[in-house]
Amino acid sequence: MKNIYIIMEAFILRIILIGAPGAGKGTQAKLISKHFKIPHLSTGDMFRENIANKTSLGLQVQTLINQGLLVPDDVTISLVRNNINSEKCWSGFLLDGFPRNLYQATELDSFLNCKIDKVILIDVPKEIIINRLKLRRVCANCGCIHQVISNNSTINQSCSECGGTLIQREDDKESVVLDRISVYNNLIKPMLDYYSAQGILHEVNGNESIENVFNNICSIIRPTPQS
Ligand code: AP5
Ligand code: MG
Repeated sequence: MKNIYIIMEAFILRIILIGAPGAGKGTQAKLISKHFKIPHLSTGDMFRENIANKTSLGLQVQTLINQGLLVPDDVTISLVRNNINSEKCWSGFLLDGFPRNLYQATELDSFLNCKIDKVILIDVPKEIIINRLKLRRVCANCGCIHQVISNNSTINQSCSECGGTLIQREDDKESVVLDRISVYNNLIKPMLDYYSAQGILHEVNGNESIENVFNNICSIIRPTPQS
């Protein structure tokens, strides 16, 4: 029985993606989730779904999110705990946007009861992410992330995956983006130190093509014997 447990553990992946707003977490998470067949848990997506469905959680967090502020830790932690404890995460998970501060990271460890395999930081310079977020549009139907050529080119544009309407996130307005970047920069260092001390923190240059970033992340998740 113990041997079966050890073999199963070898195939389970528990990954955390960290990065500033617009670093490419969502873009990479969708590719990684599909490639490694692990569920993608994005706290931002979960909150936006609740806002769209006008649930009590959505109504509670909408103003904070639109202003670029963090949702209170207890609300976020309980959302993640419920998802991670569900059946879909038995084979592992890929966290995108959680944890965001040292408290969330330590709470995650305390309710997980098992180890995180890799924490991957996607690093992108501030001026690049500001530009990316100005030109990001998301599909109101399937959530697919798009990058448009210019703000004007989005008029009447639809999602290449499902034909849904492309919209701009409320928190992608430039003044809010700057606040989100400040929130990120103010909180990230102690959390990075926490994971670095455990030897599980890896960094990739996110200012390369989506494909290159993905390949670099794959070689961190499943290193070949030479790498
Ligand atoms: P969340 O949705 O997680 O937002 P975020 O962390 O600010 O990150 P983004 O989703 O904006 O960026 P991304 O890194 O996913 O980039 P993407 O792949 O889209 O959270 C939203 C809010 O929810 C928070 O502000 C907070 O209020 C709340 N919240 C969430 N989690 C919380 C938590 N743990 N605690 C408390 N509150 C929480 O890419 C961006 C653009 O760049 C796209 O257009 C994409 O096409 C393009 N792109 C991506 N990669 C590349 C590349 N390599 N080259 C060129 N373009 C690229
Ligand atoms: Mg995202």
